[in-house]
Amino acid sequence: MTGITGRVAIVTGASSGIGATTARLLSERGMRVVVNYLRSSKAAAEVVAGIEASGGQAMAVQADVREVAAIERMVEQVRAAWGGIDVLVHNALIPYAVKSFQDMTWEELGGKIDAEMHAAFAVTKAVLPAMTVQGGGRLIFIGTGLSRRPREGMIALGTSKAAMEQFARYLAQELGPQGITVNVVAPGPVEETRMANVFDDAHKQRQVAATPLGRLAHPADVARAVAFYADEDNTFMTGTTAVVNGGMSMY
Ligand SMILES: NC(=O)c1ccc[n+]([C@@H]2O[C@H](COP(=O)([O-])OP(=O)(O)OC[C@H]3O[C@@H](n4cnc5c(N)ncnc54)[C@H](OP(=O)(O)O)[C@@H]3O)[C@@H](O)[C@H]2O)c1
Repeated sequence: MTGITGRVAIVTGASSGIGATTARLLSERGMRVVVNYLRSSKAAAEVVAGIEASGGQAMAVQADVREVAAIERMVEQVRAAWGGIDVLVHNALIPYAVKSFQDMTWEELGGKIDAEMHAAFAVTKAVLPAMTVQGGGRLIFIGTGLSRRPREGMIALGTSKAAMEQFARYLAQELGPQGITVNVVAPGPVEETRMANVFDDAHKQRQVAATPLGRLAHPADVARAVAFYADEDNTFMTGTTAVVNGGMSMY
C-alpha cells in the first residue's frame, strides 16, 4: 500500500480474472475500489477482504452491467459513500457464442453486439456526471486482440469488441475537452481466467510458440496497463489502445 489517495475506481466484473487482479492493483496504487460483480458474491467479497487486509478500501456492488437501473443504483451507492468517481474500468465479460459464422444465428451475433454496446453505453453514461463535475476522469475499456485479428469461432466477441473499441475512440474525441481520457487495453490470451480453460493444452502451446515473450499473459500483465491509464500521471494519452500480448501480433 502506498497510502489511499481518495481517488475512486469502479471496476466492472471484478469478482474474478482480469477484473479482480485490476481491483487489487488499483488499491495497491492508493485508490478506493468498487468491486462490481454479477453472480459471484462470495468471490467479490473475497476480493474486498483481500484489499482491506492489505490496508485498502473496497466495496463489492452487485449490478448487471446490461441493466441501466442497476448501474445507476451502483453509481449512486458509490457517490453516496465516497463522493465521486475518478476511474471506470469496464471489464465485465458478457457471455457469447464460440462458433463459426455458418453455425451462428443473428440472435447470437446481434445479441452479443447489443449487450456489449448497451453495457459500455450505460456504464459510461452513469459515471459521466460525476467526472464532469470533477473536471476530469479516466475511462478504460477492456478490448481484445480478436477485434483486430480474427480467430476461428470468435466472430461474436471480436466483432462486438471492435464496436466497443471504436466507441471508446469517439468518446475520447468528445470528452477530451472535459479532461476525461478514454483508452482501451486489448489483451491477447490471458491465463488464470475462465476463457483460458476453453482451449486445450496443444492450442495453448501453439499460442505460446507464436509469442515472442514466450508465455501467455497473466491477469497482472493486463492490470498494469490499466493502472497506467488510470493514474494521474497519464496526462496526455487518450484514444489509444495498449496491446498486451507479448508480441503475439504487432500493430
Ligand atoms: N481471458 C482472456 O483470455 C481475455 C483476452 C482478451 C480480453 N479479455 C477481456 O477481459 C475482460 C475480463 O475477462 P476475464 O477473462 O478476466 O473474465 P472472467 O474471469 O470470466 O470474469 C468475468 C467477470 O465479469 C463479470 N460479469 C459477467 N457478466 C456480467 C454482467 N452482466 N454484469 C456485471 N459483471 C459481469 C463476472 O462476474 P460474476 O462472476 O459475478 O458473474 C466476472 O467478475 C473481458 O472484457 C474479456 O473480453 C479476456
